Amino acid sequence: MSETRVLTDVAATRAYAGELAGRLPSGALLLLDGPLGAGKTTLVAALVEALGGPDRAASPTYTLVHEYPTPDGDVVHVDAYRLADAAAWDELGLDAYLDRARLVAVEWGAALADAHPDAWRLTLARPDGVDGARHATLVAPPSASG
Ligand SMILES: Nc1ncnc2c1ncn2[C@@H]1O[C@H](COP(=O)(O)OP(=O)(O)OP(=O)(O)O)[C@@H](O)[C@H]1O
Ligand SMILES: [Mg+2]
Repeated sequence: MSETRVLTDVAATRAYAGELAGRLPSGALLLLDGPLGAGKTTLVAALVEALGGPDRAASPTYTLVHEYPTPDGDVVHVDAYRLADAAAWDELGLDAYLDRARLVAVEWGAALADAHPDAWRLTLARPDGVDGARHATLVAPPSASG
């Protein structure tokens, strides 16, 4: 099952994140993909806020993992852009985060899909260029009914 939403501006991304926050179960893994500047970090920051975390989810390029406390557990934000290979993924220790986090959101996370069939997948696109609307396509895992 996949559904595409048009996000006309950052405010629309934030509203969409509010909806997503209600759908993603505790311990969910969200894999975000889409080209540079597609709006992945913006969406994760909005998710953190929607889940009651701090209102800034920056991603300094030199840090792979950021953790944000929320009332229901941490949101773990991974930016895997510079993650080299399978060994680097192993080193990250994703499973330990998944065991205790409210949500683990991974930018450039497509490589994890095979190993994590229960992951939610969100692909962002910017068909109208840098300043235009983003298109968000969500694929829920088979385990998510309704
Ligand atoms: N729905 C939207 N409509 C218009 N602009 C947006 C939207 N979402 C994000 N942007 C803008 O796009 C730019 C890039 O956003 P962001 O950093 O979230 O992208 P990214 O996919 O994380 O990029 P990277 O691949 O470098 O990590 C920002 O200036 C942001 O404000
Ligand atoms: Mg980013």
